Amino acid sequence: MSVVRADADSIARAAQLLRDGGLVAFPTETVYGLGADARNADAVRRIFVAKGRPEDHPVIVHVEDLAAAEGWIADMPDDARALAQAFWPGPLTLIVPRAADVLDAITGGQSSVGLRVPAHPVARALLAAFRGGIAAPSANRFGHVSPTTARHVADDLGDAVDLILDGGACDVGIESTIVAFMTGTPMLLRPGGIPLDAIAGVLGRMPLSRDATAPRASGTLTSHYAPRTPASLVKPDALLAELAQLEERDERIAVLAVSARRPDAFDGVWISAPNDATIYARMLYANLRALDGADADAILIERVPQERDWAAIGDRLARATSGEIDDRD
Ligand code: TXA
Ligand code: MG
Repeated sequence: MSVVRADADSIARAAQLLRDGGLVAFPTETVYGLGADARNADAVRRIFVAKGRPEDHPVIVHVEDLAAAEGWIADMPDDARALAQAFWPGPLTLIVPRAADVLDAITGGQSSVGLRVPAHPVARALLAAFRGGIAAPSANRFGHVSPTTARHVADDLGDAVDLILDGGACDVGIESTIVAFMTGTPMLLRPGGIPLDAIAGVLGRMPLSRDATAPRASGTLTSHYAPRTPASLVKPDALLAELAQLEERDERIAVLAVSARRPDAFDGVWISAPNDATIYARMLYANLRALDGADADAILIERVPQERDWAAIGDRLARATSGEIDDRD
């Protein structure tokens, strides 16, 4: 494995590695992706091995633009096209009926395919150099926190990846919003980088919330995005009370706060995140990794505002603190 600064030479090398069936981690505006040639079944299978992810989970295909996306789709619903025109390139993934020749390794054997046109200049340059679809889940080990720096990828995947393109820290910081178009009505599978209100603005209505008929999406398993240290979510006013109790039990605590102030006597790791959803999201996974690396017995996370702007963050925090470890992704 090697980490290289993304420039014209390293991007050309990365594109060649993809053509040769290799694995390349690259930055997107949301999180780093673990990329492989989406038309090469062996290469796509290597993604699952590297992540330790079950083989029947589908993978998003990253493409250059809407025209390139059409080559992967049997039938593009009008609402899906409207969202693509409004938000691509950007942090939006569309789940649409697959073209017949899309690999089962990509779709998890389902009748749909997930497509995204990323906005990050390095991702775009890689797609332009490769001239094909790049299959890429988040470049983390199965069930772990997503990576927002090249260092996070190296820490998680090490030698399982052939090359890591370092394009700095990701700007959005949480994954794309996923909207499925597999029935007559758009369905939100995962809140993410494009706010729900913006999606509703284009569709003229809110997408349905996911239900039992939703296509499978591993990011929607309860215990996703989890740090390894036991983590719990606490209301702002309960945080300090909880801290006092835990200190009596002589445990080492790590805290991610928004509004709560650090007590003078507190001697664990304390991260104060900004009370701004955009900046909070940008730093979220790096903060969770820092808390996880603090060698604490427990992590306490202050609940964020219950407002629509914070919905994707609230979703990730709920999953990071669910305490279930048996169906991680
Ligand atoms: O922002 C993102 O979306 C990042 C960057 C790298 O693009 N990618 C990402 O991929 O988050 P991943 O695999 O970690 O999460 C994508 C989710 C998974 O839960 C996967 O199961 C779901 O999307 N998914 C992909 N294709 C699907 C399909 N055809 N039907 C249902 N769910 C799908
Ligand atoms: Mg993921």
